[in-house]
This record gives sequence, C-alpha cells and structure tokens, in this order.
Amino acid sequence: MNKTLIAALGVAALAGAAYYLTRPPQMTQAEAPAEGDALVTITQPETLSPEALMGSRAFDATCASCHGDNATGKMGFGPPLVHKIYEPSHHGDMAFVLAVQNGVRAHHWPFGDMPAQSGLTRADVGNIIAFVRELQRANGIE
Ligand code: HEC
Repeated sequence: MNKTLIAALGVAALAGAAYYLTRPPQMTQAEAPAEGDALVTITQPETLSPEALMGSRAFDATCASCHGDNATGKMGFGPPLVHKIYEPSHHGDMAFVLAVQNGVRAHHWPFGDMPAQSGLTRADVGNIIAFVRELQRANGIE
C-alpha cells in the first residue's frame, strides 16, 4: 500500500467516525418503524405559549394525520417536522406558509407529495408554526 492510499483510508475512517458521532440522536432507531409509527422520539416542552397551544389544536386537526402526533412523523404518510431538516435556517416560517398554501412536491422523503391544506387562516398557520418551533427548541433544533 502506498502512503496516499493509507492517508485516504485514514480520512475515510475519520469521516465515518465523525458522521457516527454527530448524527442527530433522533435518528437512532432500534428497528425500522412500521407503517403509521412515529419516526422520531421527542422531549415535550414543559409548557407551550398560548399561541403554540392554539397551534397544537390546529395541528392535531389538520396536520397530525400525516405528520404524526407532536410532529414526530408517521411512517408511510409524512415526515417528522421536529427534525434538523426543518430547523428555521433551512425551512423558515415561509416554508410552512407555502407548504400549507401550495402543497409540497416530494423531495426529502419517500412519502409522496403533500397536498395544499385548505380551511386554515394565516393566523392558524402562524400558531402551527409557533407550536412546531417550540417542539423543535425543546429538542435542540434551533
Ligand atoms: C396528506 C399528508 C399531509 C398532510 C395532511 C400535511 N402534510 Fe406536510 N408534508 C407531507 C409530506 C409527505 C411532506 C414531505 C415532502 C418531501 O419533502 O418529500 C410534507 C412536508 C411538509 C413541510 C416541508 C415543506 C418543504 O418546504 O420541504 C412542511 C413545512 C409541512 N409539510 C407542513 C405541514 C402542515 C403545517 C400541515 C397541516 C396544516 C401539513 N403539513 C399537512 C404530507 C402532509
């Protein structure tokens, strides 16, 4: 083996170790979830703001059928929104507004497209965003 190959193998091993050590804890799943199961386990915030509390009701009525209870995802239906992918710097509040208004074409997950959601006011969506952000913050996603 030449030195370059040895160095390359070393770098690959380090990268693998770094990935293993830094992957989000929620991604650790003992077994693959079955259809309808939550995709992440979360810590509940101790309290919710009044806005988030209203948001949780709207979320339960309109979003939980696909995104699961407390946005923990639902295998086969929709992704967890309490997930690093949806942190504010990657999916800002506008991404939520647009998702509800226009729907979402499948691009991150194998669950198909999200249809536009009707019957919600802009204020309802604002409350849902407050709810999801508070869940995210309680789980170190900011
Ligand atoms: C019929 C199932 C379904 C319902 C109901 C649903 N969603 Fe989704 N949603 C999905 C799926 C599936 C995706 C993932 C698309 C992808 O990235 O592959 C998604 C993605 C999203 C995203 C990410 C958008 C992006 O830019 O990537 C947001 C935000 C979101 N949903 C919010 C909501 C909210 C808020 C509600 C309730 C008002 C809701 N969804 C209701 C299925 C659903």
